[in-house]
Amino acid sequence: MSTSGRQTMQGRRIWITGASSGIGSALAIELARAGARLVISGRDRGRLQAVADACKPAEVMLAPLDVASREENLVAGEQIRARFGALDTVVFNAGICEYVDLPVFDAGMIKRVMDINFMGFVYGVEAALPLLREGNAPHLVGMSSTVAYTGLPRAEAYGASKAAIRYFLQALRVDLLPQKIDVSIICPGFVKTPLTDLNDFPMPMQISAETAARSIRKGMERRSHEIRFPVLFALILRVVAVLPSRLRTRLLRPLSRSEKSK
Ligand SMILES: NC(=O)c1ccc[n+]([C@@H]2O[C@H](COP(=O)([O-])OP(=O)(O)OC[C@H]3O[C@@H](n4cnc5c(N)ncnc54)[C@H](OP(=O)(O)O)[C@@H]3O)[C@@H](O)[C@H]2O)c1
Repeated sequence: MSTSGRQTMQGRRIWITGASSGIGSALAIELARAGARLVISGRDRGRLQAVADACKPAEVMLAPLDVASREENLVAGEQIRARFGALDTVVFNAGICEYVDLPVFDAGMIKRVMDINFMGFVYGVEAALPLLREGNAPHLVGMSSTVAYTGLPRAEAYGASKAAIRYFLQALRVDLLPQKIDVSIICPGFVKTPLTDLNDFPMPMQISAETAARSIRKGMERRSHEIRFPVLFALILRVVAVLPSRLRTRLLRPLSRSEKSK
């Protein structure tokens, strides 16, 4: 802790998933500059190595894995224990995004998104909890999204996975109180990354991955329950979420691309 009561990142052992690209790689660099010791995960070892190089001179361990594999998460947990002994913070950030455009409805796609975004997250928590219990002022941080605030058209798969993470962490926060493990939920608006580069619609108030990483680091230092940004964008979605359902549905209709299905 610093004199301002904030948790500094200096010397903290932090595991970040989805660190090979976008928000995760910017966050790894941001936390490395703040003095953290890192474990970075993703599937692509080459891109992880490039991120580790960008983090120099910070200590960085590569733990390549597919988050959707329970086994690979548990193995990574053991490798982390062997190298670092324990973990002080985890940032489970890995994720993918796919949209639904009716009349095409592919349950396989929804399962794929849930397997990576939600079950991948849950497997990470299973692997990390024993390490966090032995850590210093432990902190569990999960990547949700402002999409979790209300049901948005086309986001049946992605939004459900992010809402599941938010609910899961809100519940886990209470259950972890006796173990003194803090929980933070990250809810970004639009951030420019390879994930959003695939979007073909306007993304208001979009920010850079570096700006997002700075907001996340500050939220982690404050132990904010919910780290949301950009603040105005998050506020607008929270207002939309509390509108009467019929009004909200009418307001959101132009965002849908579903063709008239039989
Ligand atoms: N960008 C936004 O506007 C925005 C807004 C709200 C929330 N988010 C969330 O922020 C997180 C990061 O997204 P991003 O925008 O930075 O996207 P990104 O640049 O595409 O990064 C996604 C990261 O997740 C990893 N990943 C994906 N599938 C994986 C798997 N099966 N196993 C292990 N790692 C996997 C990728 O690594 P590999 O490809 O190397 O596996 C990559 O490092 C996601 O959870 C996303 O939903 C993003």
